[in-house]
Formats: sequence, structure tokens, C-alpha cells
Amino acid sequence: MIDLKRRYVWWIIFLASLGPLATAFWRAFTGDLGADPGKELVEFLGITALVFLLITLSLTPLKMITKSAQVIRFRRMLGLYCFFYALLHVTGYLLFLANWADFLEDILKRPYITLGFLAFVVLTVLAFTSPKAMVRRLARNWKKLHRLIYIAAVLVIIHFLWQAKADITEPVVYGLITAVLLLFRLPVVQRVLR
Ligand code: HEM
Repeated sequence: MIDLKRRYVWWIIFLASLGPLATAFWRAFTGDLGADPGKELVEFLGITALVFLLITLSLTPLKMITKSAQVIRFRRMLGLYCFFYALLHVTGYLLFLANWADFLEDILKRPYITLGFLAFVVLTVLAFTSPKAMVRRLARNWKKLHRLIYIAAVLVIIHFLWQAKADITEPVVYGLITAVLLLFRLPVVQRVLR
């Protein structure tokens, strides 16, 4: 059994989480991004951000099932990776699919962009309040504030569904995974697993 408390485990997860970034660079460098590289890159970074969001959300259910809090020590790092990839997704959108001048108009006029933007604002607030000093300063309010991650997850799923053109299989699958992870937050489920 791997002892998750070991420092090297943290580093392995930290370095593995850079994998999608390395993949993006590699695909761009080798011309493996298809006919519309900008769009492909933005989609890849969006999915990566969502995957990190779901991994972060899965740590509490994992803690409840295994009755061990060890995985929680990776929560801040994985949550920050979600923000990092979301930031790259938005930057990619501004560089390749839109421009800074139209951004405000997009947020106001295209509902799926509005939702993505709201999710991004939430993730930004959570990232900036994640340092230990902020946890101490906000005390009990920190927990309340960080519950906004559930809202962010729902916003991202709707953003994903809304931008899908014909085939909605992928966003529906991600939506179901999100729903299952959120079910663990219900008091009745928490009571059963306690
Ligand atoms: C200001 C904020 C955001 C903007 C402007 C934005 C923009 C976009 C755009 C334009 C697309 C469609 C790309 C295309 O196929 O043409 C997209 C898709 C997507 N976005 Fe965002 N997004 C934002 C926030 C977020 C956030 C915070 C997340 C996740 C944490 C996210 C996750 C996704 C996902 C999963 C997709 C679907 C990718 C796919 O089709 O494979 N987005 N976003």
C-alpha cells in the first residue's frame, strides 16, 4: 500500500498534473491539433479544467468511502490545477476564438459564455482564497465560501451542454458524473456513510 502521507506522492501527483499541459505543447509542436488548432486547444483545455474540477470534487466522497482523510491533502493542489487549466482555456479563447474587444459583448450576449465566465469568476475567488493564511483569516466563512465549487461545477456542465452542437453524449456523461459526486453532499447520504 502506498503511504499517501509521503512527500514524494504529493510531487508525483503535482508533476503528473502537468501532463495535459505537456500534451498540449506536444500536439501544437507536432501539428497534431487538426484543421482548427485554436478551437481544438481551447476544447482540450476546457475538458482538462473540468476533469480537475471533478477529481477535486471526488476527494470528499473518497474520504467518506475509505474512512481515511489522507486524500484531502491533495485537494488544494488539484483545485488550483483546475483554476490553472481554466485560465489557459479562457486565455486560449481570447487568443484564438475571440478578441479582447468582443469579450464583454460575448459575456453579455452569449449565454453559454456568460455561464463559463461566472464559473471562472467562482474558480478565481476560490483559488485566491485557498492559501492557508486565507483559510485562517476567513475561519468558518471559508468553508461556506468554498461550497461555491458545487455551483461552479453545475455552471460548467451547463456551459459544456450549451456549446455542444449536435452530439451531447459527452456533456451528458460528465453531467451524470457531477450529479453522482454532488449526491455525496446530501445529508442523508453522509449519514449512511458515517
Ligand atoms: C470566461 C470564461 C469562459 C469562456 C469565455 C469559455 C469559452 C468556451 C468556448 C468558446 C467553448 C467552445 C469551444 C468550441 O468548441 O468552439 C468552450 C467549451 C468548453 N468549456 Fe469553456 N469557457 C469559459 C469557462 C470555462 C470554465 C471555467 C470551464 C471549466 C472549469 C470550461 C470548460 C469548458 C468545456 C468542458 C468545454 C467543452 C469542450 C469540448 O467541447 O470538448 N469553460 N468554452
